[in-house]
Amino acid sequence: MKKLENKTVFITGGISGIGKACAIAAAKEGANVAIADLKSATNSLAMEDVIKYNPKAIFIECDVSVFAQVQETIQRVVGVFGTLDIALNNAGIGGESNLGKVGFPNSSNYVAAKHGIIGLTQTAALEYAQEGIRINAICPGFIETPLLTNAGIAENTDIQKYIINLHPLKRLGKSGEVANGFIFLASDESSFITGTTVDIDGGYLSQ
Ligand SMILES: NC(=O)c1ccc[n+]([C@@H]2O[C@H](COP(=O)([O-])OP(=O)(O)OC[C@H]3O[C@@H](n4cnc5c(N)ncnc54)[C@H](O)[C@@H]3O)[C@@H](O)[C@H]2O)c1
Repeated sequence: MKKLENKTVFITGGISGIGKACAIAAAKEGANVAIADLKSATNSLAMEDVIKYNPKAIFIECDVSVFAQVQETIQRVVGVFGTLDIALNNAGIGGESNLGKVGFPNSSNYVAAKHGIIGLTQTAALEYAQEGIRINAICPGFIETPLLTNAGIAENTDIQKYIINLHPLKRLGKSGEVANGFIFLASDESSFITGTTVDIDGGYLSQ
């Protein structure tokens, strides 16, 4: 039995990196996947990778920083699939990070936003527990994704070594490793877990 059979999974920023890996993992587990992301030339290629595992997967162009677009997108997801069972808030500052728990030099905006998400997660978990809705956050360490490549980390071996050495496991994480945690939190296997964080960070936060 697949873990997310017939569930509707909504993922923001699901065209690239961690979001895409979670979309593929959810489709493999039998979910109807709806991806909301910005318009990009690579959208159709990324969607093909998800559709391979569940042909019902859909893409909706949406800028999550525009509230009206998010509302319309969610209405469309429910219109197409009839329900919305699992939402992954991953795009932009919506996604959580290990930097939601510690500081990082020269990144005050990012770190402040990520710290805020933990408070939002805990508060929303309390507000929605009565309705049986569980809300958790995943805190990844540095993960090999286009976000890191675009930040110039892939080309700069000194920065790459520095970042790798921040992780006791002495490597960057893979987006599939974050997706494994997402599937656990999205499935009934985590049925008594809410309002908490799951660190997928190669030991970064244990130091
Ligand atoms: N890569 C890492 O090392 C790392 C570590 C910890 C946390 N995170 C967090 O995980 C999340 C995903 O990161 P990633 O590395 O997979 O990034 P990525 O750049 O590979 O993918 C992000 C996706 O989000 C989309 N997106 C960005 N702004 C959007 C908007 N306003 N509306 C809709 N879609 C939008 C992009 O188009 C892209 O497809 C982010 O919140 C990031 O801060 C990443």
